[in-house]
This record gives sequence, structure tokens and C-alpha cells, in this order.
Amino acid sequence: MSKALNTIRKIAGSEPIAAAIVLGSGLSALGEALGDKLTIPYGELKGFPGAGVSGHGRDLLIGTMGGKRIAVLTGREHYYERGNAAAMRTALETMAELGASTLLLTNSAGSLDERFRPGELMLIADHINYAGMNPLIGEKTDRRFVNMVDCYAPDLRAKARGLAEKLDIRLNEGIYLWYSGPSFETVAEIQMAIRLGATAVGMSTAPEVILARFLGLKVWACSSITNMGAGLSSETISHEHTKTMAVQGAEKLSKLVPALVEEL
Ligand code: HPA
Repeated sequence: MSKALNTIRKIAGSEPIAAAIVLGSGLSALGEALGDKLTIPYGELKGFPGAGVSGHGRDLLIGTMGGKRIAVLTGREHYYERGNAAAMRTALETMAELGASTLLLTNSAGSLDERFRPGELMLIADHINYAGMNPLIGEKTDRRFVNMVDCYAPDLRAKARGLAEKLDIRLNEGIYLWYSGPSFETVAEIQMAIRLGATAVGMSTAPEVILARFLGLKVWACSSITNMGAGLSSETISHEHTKTMAVQGAEKLSKLVPALVEEL
């Protein structure tokens, strides 16, 4: 048993969780909705992400949502923080060890497509690993050759689309392209991403999806659109703006995610 798992079981007991959720920039509202919540700072969990980025939490929450026991990772470590694409490996392994069979990922992203306006959500149907880094580099077993077809589970995407319609939330599907950051993209890079077929860009998620599929977790992921990509609108892109705009997406995710968890 890993050290982190041991610590969590001592604090929260050994009842398994059904799913784990990772919160993106400015999306902490989702964690606040958790019932019977226990909070464990990452600092107490060996191998969990370190210092962090403003707008991201650094706690593991265990509680109930949609009638199920779940864990919420209130913040992630991004590749751009230390150049480690596998920074979330221990945290995600621990979620699998706690019994999670599904990982729900959220992030903030810049849109490349008029269908996804700031304040709206984009359901991720697939991704392009443009950063080119892979969290499984150095993994010794043949399990490293992960099949990535349908890595964003088609049945969960269909469920989410149905629920969004009932909840009156616009939810189109798109392709997320991972740029490493931390600088935002140039106008030319945004034009290239559009030509490659992406509909949104962001600095996270893709390595976590690879890790999750490696661990056998089913994946669902959704972007909260905070801005149009560089050069596509007159607004100035900044981390402050991302955090401010994420509130609108967070409100929508706070309705959609619990409904989805209920149906897992
Ligand atoms: N680019 C990359 N990541 C982002 C953006 C963006 O425009 N907006 C929010 N996260």
C-alpha cells in the first residue's frame, strides 16, 4: 500500500470511492458542493503535487456527490511547473487504489471555435498532444503502450450531452490541444492549432488522460472556456482573466458534474 493511501485510509476510512474529480483553474465551486466533506492537504500525502499555481487548490477532498462517495483533487500540477509530465502519477494511482473506476477532469481553456464562447463548456471528445511530452516515458512495462482510441469514454460523453440538454446547458464536443505553457500562445500558434483540427487549447489534462488510461480508469473531461485563443478576439488574455471567467463555467459544471456522478 502506498504511503498516501495509508494516510487517506487513516483519516477517511477504507470505504471505496466511485470516482475522482480533478478541478481546473478557478473551478473550486465544484468541491464546495461536496457533502460530508473531509479535507486532506496535499502536503500530508506523499507524492502528491507540490506548491502550485494561484487559482488552484492543494487539497484532497473526500465526500459525497450525486449519492456516491468520491474524491476531489482541488488542484493539479502542470507540466510547466517543473517540467514533469508525470507529476500527477502518484495522485491518480492513489485514486485508483482508493477504488475509483472513473476520472472526471476539468480545465480552463481558450477557444478556437465560435461554437464555444467564453463562459461556456466544451466536452472533450479527443485531444492532440502537441506538447509532445508523455508521462509514461521511463515506464518499464509493456503496459506503457496504452491504446488511446476512445480514451474519452463515448458512453460518458453521451450521458453528459443528455444531462446538459435537460439542465439547459449548451454542451458541444470538441478537440483539446495541449500546449505546454506557461506562456500563452502566439497568434500564429493559435492559427496552427485551428489548422490541426483543434477547437480549444490548454496547458493540462492530456498527460492525466494518458496516465488514467494506463491505470485502467475510464475518463471524462470538460473544458470551461475562459477566452478566445490569442488573436481571435480583442480581449487581453491573462491568468487573472482566466480565473475571473472560469466562474461562469464553474456554475455550469456544478450542475452537470453531480448529475453525471449520479449516473456513473
Ligand atoms: N491558452 C492556453 N491555456 C489556457 C487559455 C489559452 O488561451 N485559456 C485558459 N487556459
